[in-house]
Amino acid sequence: MTAATTAHDAAAHAPRVLLDVNGIEVIYNHVILVLKGVSLQVPEGRIVALLGANGAGKTTTLRAISNLLKGERGDVTKGYIQYRDQRIEKLSPAELVKRGVVQVMEGRHCFAHLTIEENLLTGAYTRSMSRAETAAALDRVYQYFPRLKQRRASQAGYTSGGEQQMTAIGRALMANPNMILLDEPSMGLAPQIVEEIFEIVRDLNQRERVSFLLAEQNTNIALRYADYGYILENGRVMMDGEASDLARNEDVKEFYLGISSGERKSFRDHKFYRRRKRWLA
Ligand SMILES: Nc1ncnc2c1ncn2[C@@H]1O[C@H](COP(=O)(O)OP(=O)(O)O)[C@@H](O)[C@H]1O
Ligand SMILES: [Mg+2]
Repeated sequence: MTAATTAHDAAAHAPRVLLDVNGIEVIYNHVILVLKGVSLQVPEGRIVALLGANGAGKTTTLRAISNLLKGERGDVTKGYIQYRDQRIEKLSPAELVKRGVVQVMEGRHCFAHLTIEENLLTGAYTRSMSRAETAAALDRVYQYFPRLKQRRASQAGYTSGGEQQMTAIGRALMANPNMILLDEPSMGLAPQIVEEIFEIVRDLNQRERVSFLLAEQNTNIALRYADYGYILENGRVMMDGEASDLARNEDVKEFYLGISSGERKSFRDHKFYRRRKRWLA
């Protein structure tokens, strides 16, 4: 087989691009430039991690995709975003949910005074489901999150952080999404709970074919569960690659996985410029 046919076969078997973020720039309050031309893609059926330190622009990227910037006085001023080859910048979050894209916001955001089950049911309304469909969707959430079934009648405000994160993901699942934008699921949770949540993400990905764009500061766990990763720093993608390659990369180890001595450094540090040559070589 020639090199050309091999490349052709690879292209034929590559999953189609579901989400395509192309060179977006985001400005808050008309003056604060936060994203400086971010491009990334999520192929159908994949888990893609958006990595980077606090303040790198992960949440802003997710907000740009799901059109939640307006409420923050933010605007996409350059670039475009496509979902299934259609522009989505003008769609409201509710319209996006109808097309199958749901965001789980950072910080979990449950309704504290509602029960877990009531919280889950709030996820169903945008897709105007029948009672039978709603019951089936609830059942499916409880299959993935047996803990939530046990706690279904508890007020969300009195449940643990892990249960609240599961509720937030479960609520997204109620809308029967094709793609979930998941913002910092590990934040503030004990390692064992984080592991449990990522196992469920993997399950949803493999069994329901839900694609994920996963923003995480926790590079270590994200790279273990993701297929592909983008590393954001200061509003720019500094590096991207297969998750397994990133996990083995010396710079990623040093800067993001803490597998080195000394303080954590930034890609922008002096040293980075020398190292970058090595990545490009
Ligand atoms: N509503 C806002 N108004 C002005 N600046 C903001 C707003 N939200 C975030 N920022 C700034 O944008 C940058 C990126 O923030 P964010 O997207 O939340 O990063 P991350 O999610 O990676 O921690 C930070 O410098 C932050 O201070
Ligand atoms: Mg964030």
